Amino acid sequence: MRYGVGSSGFQIEGKEGRSLSVWDLYLEKEGTLDGSDPSYGTDFLKCYKEDIALAKDLGISDFRFGVSYSRVISEDGSFNKRGIRFYKDLAQAIKEAGLRPVCTLYHWDLPQIYENEGGWTKRDMAYRFASYARFLSESFGDLVSSYVTFNEPQCFLGLGYQKGLGHAPDTEHDYEAMLRSVHHVLLGHALASEAIRKRNPKAEILFVNTADIPLPIRKGDLSLERALSKMLFSIPKDARSFYTESLFLDPLYFGSYPAEIRERSSLSFVEEGDMELIHKGKPDALALNIYTGHYYDLDKEGKVVEVREEEGPKSPLSWLNFHPLALYYGPKYFYLRYGAPILITENGGCYDDRLEEGKIHDPDRINYLSSYLDALKKAKKEGVPVLGYYYWSLTDNLEWKEGVSKRFGLVYVDYKKGCLRIPKDSYFAYRDIIAKDKD
Ligand code: BG6
Repeated sequence: MRYGVGSSGFQIEGKEGRSLSVWDLYLEKEGTLDGSDPSYGTDFLKCYKEDIALAKDLGISDFRFGVSYSRVISEDGSFNKRGIRFYKDLAQAIKEAGLRPVCTLYHWDLPQIYENEGGWTKRDMAYRFASYARFLSESFGDLVSSYVTFNEPQCFLGLGYQKGLGHAPDTEHDYEAMLRSVHHVLLGHALASEAIRKRNPKAEILFVNTADIPLPIRKGDLSLERALSKMLFSIPKDARSFYTESLFLDPLYFGSYPAEIRERSSLSFVEEGDMELIHKGKPDALALNIYTGHYYDLDKEGKVVEVREEEGPKSPLSWLNFHPLALYYGPKYFYLRYGAPILITENGGCYDDRLEEGKIHDPDRINYLSSYLDALKKAKKEGVPVLGYYYWSLTDNLEWKEGVSKRFGLVYVDYKKGCLRIPKDSYFAYRDIIAKDKD
């Protein structure tokens, strides 16, 4: 198994030296929920070598980092040489530590100059994104051979392009404009993959989806499992249409939009050759961010109904229930539909950490980590090709609109002391799990 940790540029780097992104403007307007200042991140620009050393000592193989798009694109639209220098140094340091740099090109923070021109609703955006990917992959050369084009379109489009859902840019678009934006993201992925492969034919290219996994209330009830898998890949008619899976993955894996979408739209924005190109951009593995799920049963008429099932310790984040079986059923459902190997690019627990005499005892996170990993290994044992698992995140970070008080890290960041790092008990537990796993 490839073990790793994940991070994203916007959440750790701070604002210094880059142009404005949609998230800067959104947080300026709305503020963070805990009132913390989003300008500094975890001071990663200065501390990245220390963080890489901590990652190396975990015994992981993969270090997933995110490029902040607005650090590479200046306010006038030109490439920012200082920005790219930083990412080259970072990739170099990751490689020197003996780790595989896995580079996410887009983790939500679209440069505001592009949003001002219509962002993903405009076809031009796909071509801009491809030229950014080309520029980065040429600059990295052989330093980076694993790329994630997009992280969670369910969030940056599904939540960000509908008003009031807590994500930047918090704009409102009608159904057709939303579909058009999805198409431009997929096209951007395909064009970027082509550009990266031109420079580096053996590169691993991924597209990260996130999902809330429907879990069966009973084990071994195959008709319930089938109904839940069908539900996971179906597309509701309302705003949730865009927080779904098949909308993004069917075009990549099967070369066409799901039937529900074709019935609802003429897809007039699809140009000749687009679907073939998107299908050619099929990722090298199915990259999934899975944190949680919900339990379901069938009622007397055979309809799927949600049932409450409380498990384990409560997280301070209301959406994040402790349901480890999400990492068993999730990979299983996705593998059955798309037949591709699975890489878990994010999974992690958020708990109220307290610094006590210089230490963080976080048994809930240890329980989260080991229970989810056990579930994933069970899926693997039963034949699902699982390539690896990345814990989110190495350090605490700026959790978007939540601010810095919601902590996912294996390493505590003491923001009052110039972003001092303190490995939590879970850091050592993850290290032990990795050391014991001979697979
Ligand atoms: C994932 C994102 O969806 O969830 C991360 O890729 C994020 O960027 C993580 O930090 C935790 O979610 P949230 O919404 O609580 O910040």
